[in-house]
Amino acid sequence: MNIPTITTLLTSTLETKDIKTITFRYPNAVIPGQFFMIWIPGVDEIPMSVSGITKDIKAITFRKIGDATNALYHMKPGSKIGIRGPYGNGFTLTGNHLLFVGGGTGVATLTPAVEQARKRKFKSTVIIGVKTKNELFFENRLQRSGATVLISTDDGSKGYKGFASNLAKEILKKEKIDAVFTCGPEPMMKTLLSFSRTTPFQASLERYMKCSIGICGQCCMGKGLRVCLDGPIFNGNTLKKVEDFGVYSRDAAGRKKMF
Ligand SMILES: Cc1cc2nc3c(=O)[nH]c(=O)nc-3n(C[C@H](O)[C@H](O)[C@H](O)COP(=O)(O)OP(=O)(O)OC[C@H]3O[C@@H](n4cnc5c(N)ncnc54)[C@H](O)[C@@H]3O)c2cc1C
Ligand code: FES
Repeated sequence: MNIPTITTLLTSTLETKDIKTITFRYPNAVIPGQFFMIWIPGVDEIPMSVSGITKDIKAITFRKIGDATNALYHMKPGSKIGIRGPYGNGFTLTGNHLLFVGGGTGVATLTPAVEQARKRKFKSTVIIGVKTKNELFFENRLQRSGATVLISTDDGSKGYKGFASNLAKEILKKEKIDAVFTCGPEPMMKTLLSFSRTTPFQASLERYMKCSIGICGQCCMGKGLRVCLDGPIFNGNTLKKVEDFGVYSRDAAGRKKMF
């Protein structure tokens, strides 16, 4: 499991101008919220959440921001990549009415969880938060799952004008929400945690990862939580005690990077 399995890239789909979804054959069972280590030969190995799950084929959805994601973006079907995992704990879906709040590429991490929630007949409301409407993706896919899909854009070009966390605050006031699930920029998730008050809360976190199996200590957060092993999904009670949540993470050399 901790040695990359070499697999073939099957499809590569443009979602927005800098976001793509790729699929590959990988029969291992995966829970929504878990992640893979993706090895791009000759470039790097990087963590990516699962964004699509069928028995044999899995997907990831990523924004091109640096060397590894640029290389993945330009790979053609038929190219070889290495996969380790899945790693981490994944979301625990409980309650009657679930609220999912995704910011940017965080929507990709939440989508398999929404689809699983709908299959289990949970009422599901999803907020997709983006800066502007050109950055929207997975809207149709989420609608097809039977979830209620709401859009928020920072510039008001579609849906609610403002931050996804503010729209979530309005919904939390109006409706009886049993649990909140989120993935996106950490300051947004921290604000959402404060709005959620006593509602059960689960957030997917990102930290710089190397081994992804709990050995190297690179991804540590708070008082020794390893995001790769204890997370990447953490509940609200845990996060309330983590002083770095929404404040800083660490780069590859262990230096603090403020959000
Ligand atoms: C559990 C987890 C799940 C993730 N899921 C997704 C996803 O579904 N979609 C998506 O677009 N991105 C996801 N990311 C972020 C993704 O791993 C980085 O965008 C990617 O590693 C950037 O690599 P790069 O070489 O293109 O860019 P670089 O220029 O090398 O790095 C750009 C930034 O990406 C982050 N990064 C780089 N290498 C790593 C690493 N080994 N571990 C963690 N962060 C790193 C750092 O913040 C860095 O500053 C996830 C990260 C984690 C930890
Ligand atoms: S990445 Fe090595 S302990 Fe988490």
